Amino acid sequence: MGSIAAFARAARVLAALMVAGSMVSGCGKGGGDTGGSATNPPPPAPDTAGAAVAAVSPYDSGPRAAEQPIDPSKVKQGEALFTSKGCIVCHGFGKRITCPDLDGVTMRRTAEWMEHQILHPEVMTKQDPIAHGLLVQYKLQMTNQGLKPDEAKSVIEFLKHKNHEAAAAK
Ligand code: HEC
Repeated sequence: MGSIAAFARAARVLAALMVAGSMVSGCGKGGGDTGGSATNPPPPAPDTAGAAVAAVSPYDSGPRAAEQPIDPSKVKQGEALFTSKGCIVCHGFGKRITCPDLDGVTMRRTAEWMEHQILHPEVMTKQDPIAHGLLVQYKLQMTNQGLKPDEAKSVIEFLKHKNHEAAAAK
């Protein structure tokens, strides 16, 4: 039982990574403007006919994630997950790329909003005005990397730590 679930999860991550991998030209760190991914056109805009996007994000009120103390015990695990779960394929820090730059993201968003974005990116781009705006801007749907809630929380602690270090170095 457990191993089947683990296998299904691994397969999902793999599939997501393959999708992500084939997007490298559009989403990698190359920085070269190749005019997007001819080999892998962005998925058609989700069928939002009738599905209204909220005007205000229900997850984005309150202090920004970076305003709250970092839990140092989770940073290392979060950093490892950022690589092992494939986030690193699409997102960079302080780099001009075609997926959102995560430098300073914890100063822009609440922890709650980021947790929803990480756990349910496909729902967020349909229902949350911020994520929907990013989808329109980047013309790419973030893939669901199959993280568990506590894993998403660790990644958020890593993002807070990473953003904090970068801000301190400026
Ligand atoms: C296939 C590329 C891809 C992968 C893999 C990916 N993302 Fe994303 N991410 C995006 C895109 C594109 C957006 C903008 C929303 C959209 O269009 O879906 C985004 C948005 C975000 C945002 C919000 C950025 C902002 O400026 O508010 C965060 C935070 C984020 N991703 C974190 C992660 C984490 C953590 C992982 C790994 C678990 C991950 N992403 C994996 C492409 C990706």
